[in-house]
Amino acid sequence: MDRKTIDALLNKIDASATHEGDARTRAIVNRVVRDLFYTIEDLDVQPDEFWAALNFLAEAGKSGELGLIAPGLGFEHFLDLRLDEAEQKAGLAGGTPRTIEGPLYVAGAPESVGHARLDNGDEPGETLVMRGRVLGEDGAPVGGALVEVWHANHLGNYSYFDASQPAFNLRRSIRTNADGTYSFRSVVPIGYSVPPEGKTKQLLDSLGRHGHRPAHIHFFVSAPGFRKLTTQINIEGDPYLWDDFAFATREGLVPAVKKEEGAAGKPYDVSGQFALIDFDFTLVHDRQGLPSTEVERVRAEAA
Ligand SMILES: [Fe+2]
Repeated sequence: MDRKTIDALLNKIDASATHEGDARTRAIVNRVVRDLFYTIEDLDVQPDEFWAALNFLAEAGKSGELGLIAPGLGFEHFLDLRLDEAEQKAGLAGGTPRTIEGPLYVAGAPESVGHARLDNGDEPGETLVMRGRVLGEDGAPVGGALVEVWHANHLGNYSYFDASQPAFNLRRSIRTNADGTYSFRSVVPIGYSVPPEGKTKQLLDSLGRHGHRPAHIHFFVSAPGFRKLTTQINIEGDPYLWDDFAFATREGLVPAVKKEEGAAGKPYDVSGQFALIDFDFTLVHDRQGLPSTEVERVRAEAA
């Protein structure tokens, strides 16, 4: 079928509207359907293939994996790059690089001021202390900023989604001190992979791709008057550091992991050897006319 015939069909479908509807939704859906019609025509997609794709999406939705497929196909990173571009055009610069949120944030984690311990003491793995400051782009410390942190356990699982872990295990919210400082104690996370029997794995297999993520720690950093930062830091040395299936690793987000021991651990109630990461987060002041970085999406919330 030629483009003209396809376009006539699409026009007929849109012309069947009996009221305005939502103009934005209408424009987006019409465009997506047009692109899909063209895809079906150009690639000679057969009915079996079309229904297989629809069933795949239905099953992925049912198993809750669409939030994993989105980063796996690069959508979440693409949205980040578009926010970067909008900020660059507005002359915003100097902030900590953003990177994907992923689907595993849980709202409601316990909040403390200055310091938090993320693990409850029986978590296997190397003790980690991470510390630093939250700064504005002018270098001034931001007191009272909220650092929300979450990461996987030694099996690559996240509390809440993994019901075997205590509530809010490896999740905390930390208010910076007046001098902008924060710190937390935890264990060094390891990398993980998409569920081996899941729809994301099935899709990635079909695309000839792996589903591994390098070890990382997630953050939201927010403060009044600043653009909310969604980011991660990576643990250096991970074999998948620059080969993340979700494309989240970025320059500036791979801090050195130092080996410390003795008195250096005292302020954090740590004895013996531990890993130490120093990392400052830099926020940029909010400006009018920019797309918000306070992204609305359905997120888990635990009491
Ligand atoms: Fe993660």
